[in-house]
Amino acid sequence: MNFSQLGRTALNRKPVDMNKLVAEVVKSVMINVEDRTIEWSIDRLPDAFGDATLLRQVWFNLIENAVKYTRPRDVARISISGEEGGEQMTYRVSDNGVGFDMTYSGKLFGVFQRLQRAEDFEGTGIGLALVRRIVERHNGSITATGEVDRGASFVFALPSDMKKGRAIA
Ligand SMILES: Nc1ncnc2c1ncn2[C@@H]1O[C@H](COP(=O)(O)OP(=O)(O)O)[C@@H](O)[C@H]1O
Ligand SMILES: [Mg+2]
Repeated sequence: MNFSQLGRTALNRKPVDMNKLVAEVVKSVMINVEDRTIEWSIDRLPDAFGDATLLRQVWFNLIENAVKYTRPRDVARISISGEEGGEQMTYRVSDNGVGFDMTYSGKLFGVFQRLQRAEDFEGTGIGLALVRRIVERHNGSITATGEVDRGASFVFALPSDMKKGRAIA
């Protein structure tokens, strides 16, 4: 799935079991990092209403980043949680990795924008841009907080349209 496709394709919105998506993504990401010690804390997540294929991509990119940017840690800690609000569901991925300077937090979601040195961490800098695009196509929002050498946290919110039975294009 690339950017231009994402702009054109209609969303296939249904109730989505976020626990299932996260379990699948964690399993697939862990296949490549057998030599790491990662302590996962995964809470029970509320269902979302959205496109499961695209939401899986959101989880994949956020979790892949959490795993990647905790690589220097002897024990990486990654927590995933979610909360049901009245109007929206919020989901969070936090890690104790290298973090980033909040001064540049606006850049993280830009295409090809990377804050770490390419020699230290491989990547292309499109993962978060895609995440933001997907979340916004769901009429949601995403924010990032971080502190250098102390970790990062990504929170995205999706409207709980299911309950109102409202259809959004
Ligand atoms: N969990 C994280 N901890 C620290 N920095 C992060 C994290 N996730 C993303 N970033 C920063 O945001 C940039 C953009 O992320 P992304 O678009 O996924 O690109 P990539 O992972 O290919 O570098 C990264 O290069 C990195 O600087
Ligand atoms: Mg990435």
